[in-house]
This record gives sequence, C-alpha cells and structure tokens, in this order.
Amino acid sequence: MFLDSYTKKHFTDEEKVMTANKCPLEEVNKQQHAIFISKLEEFQSRFEKENASAALTLAVQQELMDWFVNHIVKIDLKMKECVK
Ligand SMILES: [Fe+2]
Repeated sequence: MFLDSYTKKHFTDEEKVMTANKCPLEEVNKQQHAIFISKLEEFQSRFEKENASAALTLAVQQELMDWFVNHIVKIDLKMKECVK
C-alpha cells in the first residue's frame, strides 16, 4: 500500500515538472508510469490471492530492478537536462 500511494504521488509530481518544463520525454514518461501502475495493481491482486509468496516477492523485486535500470536511469535522470 505504501509503494502504491508513494508511487502515484511521486509520478504525479514528476509529470507536473516535466509538463511545466516541456521535457521531450514527457509522454514516454507518462506512458511508462501508467504501465508501472498497472503492474503494481497486478501485484496487489496477486498479493490478495497468494500473500507474500516467494514467486510474487521475486516478481516484485525483478520489476523494481527493471524499473530502476530502464526507467529511472533512462528517463527520469534525463529530466535534469530540461528542468530550468
Ligand atoms: Fe518517471
């Protein structure tokens, strides 16, 4: 639940900054945020069915690692190039 609320708040704040600064990656960023939120909802649904199973824990860990490498590094960090 913490990850869900934190993520949505953070994404909203980040998207506002990108929009205000007309960042070129704004749309890609928003699309990837939407996909990530869907994945979180999927994980929440799985958690309700299987609790913190090893498979679910591993899937969440894998998704977070992938998010760090493929979103935070490749999209979010580029925000510094357009934020004034
Ligand atoms: Fe982002």
